[in-house]
Amino acid sequence: MIQENTTVAEHHVFQGDYRLLRLSSPAIGPLVRPGQFVHLRVPRLADAILRRPFSVFKADAEGLSILYKSVGKGTAALCSVREGEAVNLIGPLGNGFPPITEKAKSGEMKPVLVAGGYGIAALYLQAAKLPVKGVAFFGGRSAADILCVDEFKALGWDVRITTDDGSLGQKGLVTVALDSWLAEQKGKFQTLEIFACGPNAMLKAVGDRAVQNGITAWLSMDRNMACGVGACLACVIKRKTADGWEWVRCCKTGPVFKAREIFWDE
Ligand SMILES: Cc1cc2nc3c(=O)[nH]c(=O)nc-3n(C[C@H](O)[C@H](O)[C@H](O)COP(=O)(O)OP(=O)(O)OC[C@H]3O[C@@H](n4cnc5c(N)ncnc54)[C@H](O)[C@@H]3O)c2cc1C
Ligand code: FES
Repeated sequence: MIQENTTVAEHHVFQGDYRLLRLSSPAIGPLVRPGQFVHLRVPRLADAILRRPFSVFKADAEGLSILYKSVGKGTAALCSVREGEAVNLIGPLGNGFPPITEKAKSGEMKPVLVAGGYGIAALYLQAAKLPVKGVAFFGGRSAADILCVDEFKALGWDVRITTDDGSLGQKGLVTVALDSWLAEQKGKFQTLEIFACGPNAMLKAVGDRAVQNGITAWLSMDRNMACGVGACLACVIKRKTADGWEWVRCCKTGPVFKAREIFWDE
């Protein structure tokens, strides 16, 4: 884990309420693994002591980018950050998606991505790294929340879209499309592996389906965070144990967990 004073290389509207922030980050950028996040201090925010966590959308030797939605005070302040400005980062943080297995390399495993809204940001690096491309389900409230379709198609993914209001793709929740597709995959569940990121309700719905059908699923959990490095316990979630559950820190042990490990009580 590194703390780095990075510089804003690029910052613009990506689509609707979503912005892309590219940071020159020669220390953190090259170390990032798919599914990891950075904890960013938002410049000019009155209570700047609290950083904000963002998945690393893309990363390379020179830097990294985040794809974010303005939802509150911190992200609204982030919108005003200008190119050339300094931004302090801690990262790369957390345990991302698991390393690529031999099964994945040989094509015995068929990967499935499920993304809700900005959850897509946590999945792009994994989507690029997986040697075999499968089906990617993207869900959002409306067309404006469906991001990066062409980029995922260009990587070789079969992208299926759902929107709550029917403005793009199939009308309904992302699980509507996932359920019909799963119904066609009966008998092949052992070969599927799901990677998902999005709102917690979506993650629970995807996780439940995976557990019921014996499919391995990896969920990138979204929790409000304070320290981001395992010191404050603001981000704890319940993980199943042999005789009940235990608290684990989403920032340190996660944010990616196996679906069958999560004890949902919300
Ligand atoms: C591991 C991780 C990766 C993330 N990656 C991304 C990303 O790639 N792109 C992106 O846009 N956002 C991402 N987020 C969410 C992002 O951190 C929050 O949207 C941000 O911290 C909100 O700050 P704010 O000050 O603007 O909102 P606040 O004023 O603090 O809150 C505004 C509203 O957003 C809710 N909120 C705040 N933090 C979170 C959170 N972590 N999850 C869900 N709701 C929250 C609050 O409850 C409130 O309703 C990620 C969160 C985590 C934990
Ligand atoms: S945010 Fe402090 S322990 Fe996770």
